[in-house]
Amino acid sequence: MNSAIVIGVGPDRGLGAQLATRFAALGMHVFVAGRTQEKLDAVVANIIGSGGKATPVVTDATNEDAVVSLFDQAASAGTVEAAIYNAGNNTPGPIIDMTADYFTQSWQICCFGGFLFGREAIRRMQHAGGTLLFTGASASLRGRAGFGAFNSSKAALRTLAQAMAKECGKDGIHVGHVVVDGAIHGEKIKQRFPDYYEKASDGKMISIEAIVDAFEYLYRQPKTGWSFEVDLRTAVENW
Ligand SMILES: NC(=O)c1ccc[n+]([C@@H]2O[C@H](COP(=O)([O-])OP(=O)(O)OC[C@H]3O[C@@H](n4cnc5c(N)ncnc54)[C@H](OP(=O)(O)O)[C@@H]3O)[C@@H](O)[C@H]2O)c1
Repeated sequence: MNSAIVIGVGPDRGLGAQLATRFAALGMHVFVAGRTQEKLDAVVANIIGSGGKATPVVTDATNEDAVVSLFDQAASAGTVEAAIYNAGNNTPGPIIDMTADYFTQSWQICCFGGFLFGREAIRRMQHAGGTLLFTGASASLRGRAGFGAFNSSKAALRTLAQAMAKECGKDGIHVGHVVVDGAIHGEKIKQRFPDYYEKASDGKMISIEAIVDAFEYLYRQPKTGWSFEVDLRTAVENW
């Protein structure tokens, strides 16, 4: 059985967990990675309960040794066929008050971690090929007042992914980026912004299933018709 890796997995009704669940349903042994053991265990239990194969691996995406070890584990179980970098927290705040540490932390998670993860994926996929996908946001495409740290690091991740796509396509490695242009109808918004979640639940947030479908669409594309990017937003989004 081939392997897949999803890093940036949290609660079950989050994008990372649902990506892991979908790729397990596609028949891969999924290595479910994130920083919190209990969250990973819950996602893995659901996958196994549905007849899939999954292994939790506590991994900080910004730690080089941990990311290398994650890929070692996945590669020892089977050919790494798909790898998804989903880690990335929004880091709001005006520039005038922002500490250098806050800015650097945002860049570490949204961009540097993507470099470590993408490099390891490329090393493992160099001979057999594979699919390497990244989660983007509105921030990937434009700067916005009050979001400078997040905008700059997500935009950097997007151009990094583009460079990887151009560098590695000839090796059969399909690198893609999914722009999630708006709030996700999931646990993160529910916990952080309960009032907004309540008001926006009638179609103003992006469905997790639709986002996961976009990842699967990129994964399934034939070598003769690859997209680098898919962007998603709701019908009512003002963009
Ligand atoms: N939520 C939204 O409205 C929204 C909108 C647009 C784009 N996005 C993008 O979607 C992705 C997240 O989706 P989501 O919001 O539904 O969250 P999610 O996939 O449910 O959770 C992402 C998980 O990543 C983990 N994580 C954070 N930093 C990490 C690190 N350094 N190493 C490993 N794991 C880490 C966190 O778990 P632990 O804290 O347990 O490690 C977090 O729960 C991000 O790339 C985000 O930029 C989200």
